[in-house]
Amino acid sequence: MIMKIDDINSCSSSFLNYAVLYKEEVDSTNLWIKQLAKEGAPEGTVTIADAQTAGRGRLGRVWASEGGHSVYMSILLRPQIAPEQASMLTLAAGLAAAKACDQIYKMHTDANAPVSSAQIKWPNDVVLSGKKVCGILTEMGMDGAKIAYVVVGIGINVNAEAFPEEIRHTATSLALESGVQISREEVIKAVLTEFDHCYKQFLETGNLANLLLEYNEMLVNRNREIRVLDPKGEYGGVAAGINEKGELIVNKKDGTCTEVYAGEVSVRGIYGYV
Ligand code: BTN
Repeated sequence: MIMKIDDINSCSSSFLNYAVLYKEEVDSTNLWIKQLAKEGAPEGTVTIADAQTAGRGRLGRVWASEGGHSVYMSILLRPQIAPEQASMLTLAAGLAAAKACDQIYKMHTDANAPVSSAQIKWPNDVVLSGKKVCGILTEMGMDGAKIAYVVVGIGINVNAEAFPEEIRHTATSLALESGVQISREEVIKAVLTEFDHCYKQFLETGNLANLLLEYNEMLVNRNREIRVLDPKGEYGGVAAGINEKGELIVNKKDGTCTEVYAGEVSVRGIYGYV
């Protein structure tokens, strides 16, 4: 076995009762867990794979998922919320992943080295030194007008040493940033522990009110000039932070303010990825 799943199953969780399943190779941990969801798997089921043959990213992109060095995991949720609230979960998951990456990165980085902090690129990319270290794909299954399940799929570059040409300048790994190899089990445990907390906080209010401060503190786009890549038309402005619904508040150059809903939209810094 490539990962020590027994270690992960002992992960401290007070709210979600995690049950972790592992395969060396799968098409996508999101597809696998969606099948389990349809078969009645409970909230808290987690699927993990060493490699994915059809890893999927946001906005229809491919998520390169070679084996041996990274984390590909999905968490099954069955929240009793309205469908329009589900997009907020993706930001709660982004915060959890960012806090976990920050902890692990700092724990393994020489105290004398210049240390940066993990940050969030809205809505839920985790970045270290301005490069992406983790991405999240949230998917939802419906039962009539009600949510049957939500799947939070998390991909983390843990020990990757190199990236394909097209993402070389925008991607990094925890190992590249800290200079040491990092245990994937340790990363998974940290993510599950942080997610447990963030999910509970989200369910308390049904929005991001409890997480807003922490999220905005980690938001790399805050007070920065950005381009909003909206399929209906691109525009520029300065990001002020998110609101309780997880929308990005953007002060446009014409003096108006707009709230951007994640859906089909992404943002870019004007000088590059962030
Ligand atoms: C993105 O930033 O585009 C989101 C990437 C999400 C990748 C993860 S890896 C585990 C899970 N399974 C998938 O097929 N995708 C998500």
